[in-house]
Order: sequence, then C-alpha cells, then structure tokens
Amino acid sequence: MSLDFLNLHEVETLARATLPAATFEYFAGGACDEVTLAENRRAFDELALRYRVLVDVSRRELGTTLLGSAVSAPIVVAPMAFQRLAHADGETGMVKAAGSLGVLFTASTFSTASLEEISAAASGPLWFQLYVHQDRGITRDLVQRAVAAGYRALVLTVDVPEIGRRERDERNAFRLTADLRVANFRPQASDPLQGDAPGSHLAHFISGMRDPAFSWKDLEWLGSLSPLPIVVKGLVRADDARKAVEHGIAGIVVSNHGGRQLDTAIAGLRALPAVVDAVGDRTLVLMDGGIRRGTDIVKALALGARAVMLGRPALWGLAVGGEAGVRRVLGLLCNELDLALALCGTPRLSDLSRDLLS
Ligand code: FNR
Repeated sequence: MSLDFLNLHEVETLARATLPAATFEYFAGGACDEVTLAENRRAFDELALRYRVLVDVSRRELGTTLLGSAVSAPIVVAPMAFQRLAHADGETGMVKAAGSLGVLFTASTFSTASLEEISAAASGPLWFQLYVHQDRGITRDLVQRAVAAGYRALVLTVDVPEIGRRERDERNAFRLTADLRVANFRPQASDPLQGDAPGSHLAHFISGMRDPAFSWKDLEWLGSLSPLPIVVKGLVRADDARKAVEHGIAGIVVSNHGGRQLDTAIAGLRALPAVVDAVGDRTLVLMDGGIRRGTDIVKALALGARAVMLGRPALWGLAVGGEAGVRRVLGLLCNELDLALALCGTPRLSDLSRDLLS
C-alpha cells in the first residue's frame, strides 16, 4: 500500500479502501447523528488565524514536557481500542512509530496487545488509559501492572458511564475477529466481543464490565492504588475541571471521545477556553477531537492547551502501512505544525496566545 499520501485526509481515503467496511465504520463512526463528530472539525475551520509578520522564525521549537516526560512535539497518540483490527502491527507498531518520533503514546485498556507487550516495544514515554471495571479487583490489577511496566500516568476515561449509541456498529453487528482478544483481560472476557448475536458486540462487552456508579468520591480509591499521576479524559465543563483539580488530578483532556459518546455534545475546541480559565496553571490541560492539521494544533495551544491528542488519523496510518504508516502520519503532522509556527510568526509554543485567533 502506498505511503505517499500528502495529508491526514488523504490517508483516511486510503484506509477506507483497505479496511473491511465494518472495521472502517467502527473506527470512523460517531454516536447517533454524528453531529458532534462533525462539530469537532467545524470548530477548527471556523477559527481564523491572525498571524504575526517580521518575526525571526529561523529556529522553531516543537518540544515540550508533559507530566515530567520530555516529548518532541505537543502531540499525544490518543488511547484507541482494538488496533490489530487495523493492521497486524497493532498497538506494538503504533507505539514503535510514536517512540521513533519522540511522541507520547497512550495504551487503551481495550488493546489487542497486552500492556506489557506494548511497553516492551516502546522506546518513548507511555501513559495507560483506564476504564474502571465493575470488579474493582480487576482495575487494581491493571493499575499495578501499569506501574510495573513503566507507564508514567493513568488516563482515566470519564465519558463512558454507558457506551454511546453507535448506530453504524449496531447495523454492522460490529465484533472482534476470532483471532483477537482484549489482551489485558483473561481470554474468556472477550467472548461477548465475538459470536453471532445481533447488534454491536462492543456494546455487549462494555455492558458487562462498566461501572456506571463510579463517581468523584471514588477517585480517592483510584489514587490510593498507585503513585502514578491521574489524567481525567473526557470532561467539557469548567466546574468539572475545578472539581478535578480539587481531587488532586494531574491533568485534564478536554474531549468528547471523538464524537462517539453523547451526540450533540460541545466540540472539544469550543469547550477548551472555559476549562483553561477555570484551572489556570494548576493542572495540565490537553484537548482532542478533530485534529487533522498543524494549524489545528496551533489553535488548540493558542486557546491554552499544552498538547493535543490525535485519534483516528493514527489508525488510518496503521491500516495503510502498519508502523511505517503511523510514522508517516505523525511526521506529516509535526512538519505541518513546524510550518504553521513559522507562518504564524510564533517560533516557540509559548508564543501561542489567544490574540492569534479571530
Ligand atoms: C477511541 N477513543 C477511546 N478513548 C478512550 O479513552 N479509550 C478507548 O479505548 C478509546 N477507543 C477508541 C477507539 C476508536 C476506534 C476511536 C476512533 C476512538 C477516543 C479517542 O481516545 C479520542 O478521544 C478521539 O479519537 C479523538 O478524536 P479524533 O482525533 O479521532 O477526531
């Protein structure tokens, strides 16, 4: 498969031609009418850049530090389930590509390689995304394994008390292929993801493990399990952001789960300024949803995010070219960010501020 795509839109077109239709739709789709999915993109396109001129931009600096980890760009690979559905390289290919570019990788609880296999393949810093299991012993176990395997933070996903209604997956009876498992759990735990039942098998699987009663008061318990900093992923409100800070949270990802959970939820980019204003410097703020261009990253950082998470385009790269495809996707995005910094007259990330936007 050709790796000569020029941007993150073209690689999606190539991935669509490569993947089985139900797999592509699982990756690409959102909840219900996919209003939020579209909004995540529209929010970026509606913001115009008011660039500076006659600035010395001969040296640009993309590197930064996220919770103590030095990274070469303010881009984090978002946690995404079932990466071996995209390509046999799966999560280990993805993490190798991220490491080769100095980009931080977040492993999903629902990975098709175990968190230990992923850390063994890694050459850069790792975060572990956590879905809290209704069996708290399973969650405790996962956290302890993540500590032992060298993960540097827990990314607690808080926007899935129930799984969103993803109608494409319902229609396609989305399921895992027989050769794949949720590798962090015992093998039988993946049974609901397979078989011939109608409807989305992901919905069956999540309804058997989720804990919709999990709430703010349970964060103390989670914090007691390990010394790892906790990043909360999936909030969009200033008051929730303040609560997160009060609960000792080290970071926030302003996110609506790529439009896959509550449809008509606010776009991540639109929710970002209020969250940044609410927490100031007291916690790290990231955002995700709809990042496709270097200028998107400029806009998110100008609004106060310290970094962004990149979702689907990394999967498209994986589908099209395995590890090399992800390297190409991340490399294109870093190059676009570098060019955008030059053309905005903002050679350092710290030069990005709200006056760049109109
Ligand atoms: C996700 N996302 C996600 N989030 C999470 O916390 N745990 C997970 O296991 C998954 N799995 C997952 C699978 C797939 C196929 C997608 C597309 C997304 C959400 C993800 O981390 C991120 O929030 C969004 O993908 C960001 O939006 P973009 O960049 O895809 O537009």
